Amino acid sequence: MNIAVFASGSGSNFQALVEACRDQNDFNFVLLFSDYPQAYALERANKLGIPSLAASPKDFNSRDEYEEFLLRKMEDYQVDYILLAGYMRIIGQDLLEAYPDRILNIHPSLLPAFPGRHGIADAYRAGVKETGVTVHLVDQGIDTGRILKQAKVLIEQGETLADLEEKIHQVEHQLYPQVVKEYLKGVE
Ligand code: GRF
Repeated sequence: MNIAVFASGSGSNFQALVEACRDQNDFNFVLLFSDYPQAYALERANKLGIPSLAASPKDFNSRDEYEEFLLRKMEDYQVDYILLAGYMRIIGQDLLEAYPDRILNIHPSLLPAFPGRHGIADAYRAGVKETGVTVHLVDQGIDTGRILKQAKVLIEQGETLADLEEKIHQVEHQLYPQVVKEYLKGVE
């Protein structure tokens, strides 16, 4: 099956996915897409030998045009599943309809707590004792789709935000590939 990953930033989850799924002969990472042409994820794709594509929504006349472009690219690359990995945009209706239950996302909190862009910092500042990581299906909302799996991360006393971020990312890099392997094999 053909997999596209969408990333807007560093792409550490993208890399973890690719490396952890090397043992899956039927998983083909056919494209890394970024909406941010300077994203480090593009460089990682290059190093990993995975085709990449960048296009900023600003270069299109409308959000609809951007979405149509994405849908066309998914068809070009014959993509079966889309994995969001730090992709900082809402997925439009056309793509959602073309990929029902076939778009996954990773979010750095125990949803439904702390959705949105700053899941780690929001949990840290709220002073909660535990937070975590969620892998979920994508729907039209912000971090609202059906939850596939979660992992807890304790926030220790005296821990800095940077410490917590590091811990969360380590858990993400384990959990996302694990869930992707289970889910893609289960529905196929
Ligand atoms: C991760 O924390 C992910 O959960 C969130 O954005 C971050 C992306 O990090 N959605 P990276 O680009 O994979 O390093």
